Amino acid sequence: MSSGVSGSSAVYAGTFDPMTNGHLDIVVRANDMFSGLHVAIVREPPKIALFSAAERESLVREAVSGINGNIVVESFDGLLVDYVRRVGARIIIRGLRAVSDYEYEAQMAMINRQLADDIETIFLMTSDYCSFISSSVVREIARYKGDVSSLVPANIARRMQSL
Ligand code: COA
Repeated sequence: MSSGVSGSSAVYAGTFDPMTNGHLDIVVRANDMFSGLHVAIVREPPKIALFSAAERESLVREAVSGINGNIVVESFDGLLVDYVRRVGARIIIRGLRAVSDYEYEAQMAMINRQLADDIETIFLMTSDYCSFISSSVVREIARYKGDVSSLVPANIARRMQSL
């Protein structure tokens, strides 16, 4: 009989350039669902990142430090499915904000399944208060010295203000 998901570890991967309240919402909820959660930061994303991998990792680590649970934050190279296997997980968590996310997310989930059919992707709908947030909007507001404090965790707002 299957052991279900509650005793499993899951991986929530992303670029996190920077982490937003939307990402944090997914971390909090996934942490409640699984016995362990790896927040995995892709070291070399396809797009040029504003923050280095080391800084994205340390900002995420600080942002999730107050959450009670078994959360590991680390960067990874290579394929996500290889990372998931390496840490002994079998679930990938993704957040869905709107229908516009669906096509990209569905393609990624199907490719990951093609690469590793023992790994499942589970989607969580973002909470409505953060369904409009994206990392690029946050970067754009910060570029023009706008206030991002309602969109990102406090430590990240402070870092964005210092840009
Ligand atoms: N709330 C708010 N924003 C969210 C969100 C949520 N719940 N979920 C996603 N987003 C936004 C982000 O803010 C970001 O916005 P932007 O495009 O404006 O910058 C965007 O959605 C996606 O960012 P992120 O969540 O950081 O994930 P990603 O799509 O950059 O992550 C990886 C992609 C890392 C999972 C993927 O590139 C990967 O697996 N790489 C490893 C290589 C690999 O295995 N490739 C094959 C698989 S196709």
